[in-house]
Amino acid sequence: MLVIGIESSAHTFGVGIVDNGRMLANEKMMYDVGSRGMIPAKVAETHVKNASTVIKMALDKAGVTMKEIEGVGYTKGPGIGACLQIGQLSAKTIANALGVGIVPVNHAVAHVEITKHESGLKDPIALYVSGGNSQILKMADSPFKHYQILGETFDVGIGNMLDAFAREIRLKPAWGSTVAKLAEKGSYVPMPYTVKGMDFAFTGLLTYASSLAGKKSNEDLCYSIQETSFSMLCEATERALLLTNSDELEVCGGVAQSTRLQEMLRCVCKEHGFQFGAARNEYNADNGGMIAYVAERMLKDDRGEPLGRCDIQQRYRIDKAIVV
Ligand code: FE2
Repeated sequence: MLVIGIESSAHTFGVGIVDNGRMLANEKMMYDVGSRGMIPAKVAETHVKNASTVIKMALDKAGVTMKEIEGVGYTKGPGIGACLQIGQLSAKTIANALGVGIVPVNHAVAHVEITKHESGLKDPIALYVSGGNSQILKMADSPFKHYQILGETFDVGIGNMLDAFAREIRLKPAWGSTVAKLAEKGSYVPMPYTVKGMDFAFTGLLTYASSLAGKKSNEDLCYSIQETSFSMLCEATERALLLTNSDELEVCGGVAQSTRLQEMLRCVCKEHGFQFGAARNEYNADNGGMIAYVAERMLKDDRGEPLGRCDIQQRYRIDKAIVV
């Protein structure tokens, strides 16, 4: 089944095309966050400008025409409302014009599922880490097949926390990778560490690290905030693995691109003889390919929705989404 998937939950407008699980195209254009951060109306405006170009790029890359498309998927949420609407509208327009099935997809499910597919793991605990989300997840079968949230952030997502700190010490974008680069030359300064069972919180750490700006070197602060926050994730994830008798771990989402985080998680797994997996970075970053991948499976399972019910939901939690 030839399916097109559209992702637009934040700064990326991504379009993927799959055919029976085979990724034919995964194209994107992004809003330039610059020093302003994400202004929803401006990001949505950029998505409107880029939408048709990215769709054409994906069709060309896949070597198919629009008329051949047999199904459509789009990100329903979670994400920024104004941005989600552009992907939703693009998807509904395509589905309506072609008279094919359409399905709304949960963005977090797509990250977890594409990583499972890429890594070959069967039933992993998933550490989902991005700008707005930080969750520890496990597949559950009752009352429907879904991802149960074992642990999550009490306040901000780890990516947004690292970005906020980078702005605090006046680093230039891309903030997260600049923090990672400076961290390579830093030494450890003790920082607040907040893990409660399998949950964690980052704002105390952010406030403390920010209060040291100008008093300690940026290298030391970047190293310390990164090591502390990643250690918190590792502790909570290790607990989740042990309490659920799991022996596989995947990390997914934008922050999964961090080589240091992957190294630390791999170390946890090695200690216990567990399998560790991550996707290629093009699937850790936001992308349309993962939406197409999940949409095809959902459409084949008859999970398509009538056009009138194809809505968006800014706070669409992963445990509310049926997984097929
Ligand atoms: Fe994402």
